[in-house]
Amino acid sequence: MFVTVASYKGGVGKTTTAVHLATYFQDLGPTILIDGDPNRCVSIMAKRGGMPFTIADEREGLYTVRNYQHVIVDTEARPGAADFEDLARGCDLLIIPTVPASMDTDVLILTLAAAQKLVPDKYRVLLTKVPPPPESEGPALRSELKAGEVPVFKAEIPRLKAFEHAAAAGFPVSNFGDERSRRAWEAYRAVAKEIEKYAKP
Ligand SMILES: Nc1ncnc2c1ncn2[C@@H]1O[C@H](COP(=O)(O)OP(=O)(O)O)[C@@H](O)[C@H]1O
Ligand SMILES: [Mg+2]
Repeated sequence: MFVTVASYKGGVGKTTTAVHLATYFQDLGPTILIDGDPNRCVSIMAKRGGMPFTIADEREGLYTVRNYQHVIVDTEARPGAADFEDLARGCDLLIIPTVPASMDTDVLILTLAAAQKLVPDKYRVLLTKVPPPPESEGPALRSELKAGEVPVFKAEIPRLKAFEHAAAAGFPVSNFGDERSRRAWEAYRAVAKEIEKYAKP
């Protein structure tokens, strides 16, 4: 499985998504996370704590991906249009994490237009940092996307401090046993299970 996580926007949970999907897929087979961010976020995080999968930058990854069953590509905050094209074309599934907040909508439309043009049948939006009810941004964006016939994961990622705590410690949330961490992990597990259905390598 070759999964790319990308969007024109930073801070939407790309790295968090890549880390947790790689954690899930590592259980199924050897998994490599390609840290495409020049800031090497995942590598730095892993040095603080520990990640269960292999991490490589794009250069190293070029030669080693063939040894892995699953490849998860994390990308930099704002890849240029040309980069986005390369990233999107090569994968089995392009995941576009999106925070439901009206301010983000313009960038989302740009990202979706690019995905729709490049890989119409291979991309899917993931709602991340979804605020808890009664806040309505999550359901509102979901129905907007549905109306626009944009593919969206059924599972979504709630806004939970557990993700920040885990990242600060350098581990995936699955390393922690408290209730919020378990909820956080369950959310990404649900996403991964959907991916297993959608992406047919
Ligand atoms: N579901 C979530 N709930 C709360 N905080 C989150 C969630 N997902 C990510 N974060 C935090 O938001 C920040 C940005 O997330 P990150 O995954 O680095 O985004 P990106 O890679 O798109 O820039 C990080 O501090 C991360 O820990
Ligand atoms: Mg990132």
